[in-house]
Amino acid sequence: MTDRPKTSSTSRSRRTAPEPAEDLTSVLSSKVVGQPNVINVIVPYIDMFQAGLAPENRPVGVFLLLGPTGTGKTRTVEALAEALHGSSKNLLKIDCGEFQMEHEVAKLIGAPPGYLGHRETQPMLSQQKLTAVTSDKSALSLVLFDEIEKAAPSLTRLLLGVLDRGILRLGDNSVVNFEKSLVFLTSNLGAKEMMREINPDFGFQSANAGPTRDELTQKLQNIALVAVRKKFSPEFVNRIDHVITYQPLNAESFSAIVDHEIDNLQSHVNTRLGARCFTVDVPFETRQWLIERGTSSEYGARELKRTIHKHLTQPLATMVAKNQVEASSKVRVELAPDHESLNLRVTSEGEAPVPSHPTVLLVDDNRDLLQFLERLMAESGWELLVAESASDARRVVSNRKPNAALLDYMLPDGNGVELAQQLRQSMPNLQVIMMTGSVLAPEEEAICEEHDFPVLRKPFLATDVMNQIRGRLAGRASAGR
Ligand SMILES: Nc1ncnc2c1ncn2[C@@H]1O[C@H](COP(=O)(O)OP(=O)(O)O)[C@@H](O)[C@H]1O
Ligand SMILES: [Mg+2]
Repeated sequence: MTDRPKTSSTSRSRRTAPEPAEDLTSVLSSKVVGQPNVINVIVPYIDMFQAGLAPENRPVGVFLLLGPTGTGKTRTVEALAEALHGSSKNLLKIDCGEFQMEHEVAKLIGAPPGYLGHRETQPMLSQQKLTAVTSDKSALSLVLFDEIEKAAPSLTRLLLGVLDRGILRLGDNSVVNFEKSLVFLTSNLGAKEMMREINPDFGFQSANAGPTRDELTQKLQNIALVAVRKKFSPEFVNRIDHVITYQPLNAESFSAIVDHEIDNLQSHVNTRLGARCFTVDVPFETRQWLIERGTSSEYGARELKRTIHKHLTQPLATMVAKNQVEASSKVRVELAPDHESLNLRVTSEGEAPVPSHPTVLLVDDNRDLLQFLERLMAESGWELLVAESASDARRVVSNRKPNAALLDYMLPDGNGVELAQQLRQSMPNLQVIMMTGSVLAPEEEAICEEHDFPVLRKPFLATDVMNQIRGRLAGRASAGR
């Protein structure tokens, strides 16, 4: 009976999110660093849901995430929301710290009828709220009870019904169904004891040499389980599908997180500033300095974002606001001589000079035109990268970085304007020229104008397009100085 809605939601999610599970795993691994076991445990539950095979009368999966602070517990659920629905906002997050008192728990389910003001109390957990966090990519709701150890005991009792039968009865006696939800509980239960294992000098003195990583994993897992059993009743613990213990992050993971944050900052600069964008150049020592400041065994990577924001994003924003950064220039972020702060400096050093033999990416499914342009440009000593589709083009640029791109508007697997934007985002200095046999839609026309993508109407002369590319490359190089 309940099969029907499930199948329809499945076919809907299949149609728009055809990515196989390996993709979800790799997307998640890039967002949540250094916790492979976590992802390996969660992804099969999502596959099960997508296949329409999730059991009835209970949530699709219930996970208790434990481990030291700042190791990615909350981040995991946000990353899942981004991967499944396209935004970390598609997540129903209950901060359990707000429900420390018994009477506050009523906010979750709404007051029973007859109570003063019951009509005004909108329950935080309603069917509508669960639906609101799904998307046309997936019908799965992600529900996060964050830092559950802080909540009043009645919250755990309320959750017991959710975990057990997949339903929650609200104050007005209506029922919320969690059959299409993944429920995450996070907690730092045992985190203090874990700290003593990870960093024996923290609080307690230890004469032993540190444990190996495997021993540590095992120890943390045991500490977590003991703490969970102490805090929650056996029936509660039994209804959790997986208790997952997060590992302390190592230097390599911190590095990957910093790189990821800096890449995000660069994409943000590229999208927000468009043609006025510039390159943020953060050398290795600066990245190490940010790691030293922003990470600790006590708080993991929790302070890293704030550190980057304070020392890098904020001063950069000030420079931009004061018009101190020219388009296409480079801002180099170096350590101040006293190593106490960072210096941001605009350089044009390292700026690519006008290439006399530029590398040009040609994307068109018209082979005759491709071959003709390729031959002609090769005769002038230009290097050509050719692709017949958008996906082909993305693969080509993952190996080679062109100076300019000549893109057909109509590609077999998509639209050239979209491809142009993606390429520009990963290569802010790329000169893009669109080719079209027809007129562009007004929105696309506007995008081309905004990003400074000139549009060449077919037919055109090959010399025109080559002059156009030469001129633009020369123009960019002089603008960057
Ligand atoms: N494993 C991780 N991968 C990527 N970023 C992480 C990771 N762990 C922590 N971070 C960074 O630190 C911040 C805090 O992590 P969070 O998930 O809130 O920690 P907690 O484990 O205490 O819930 C995140 O927003 C993210 O910037
Ligand atoms: Mg957290």
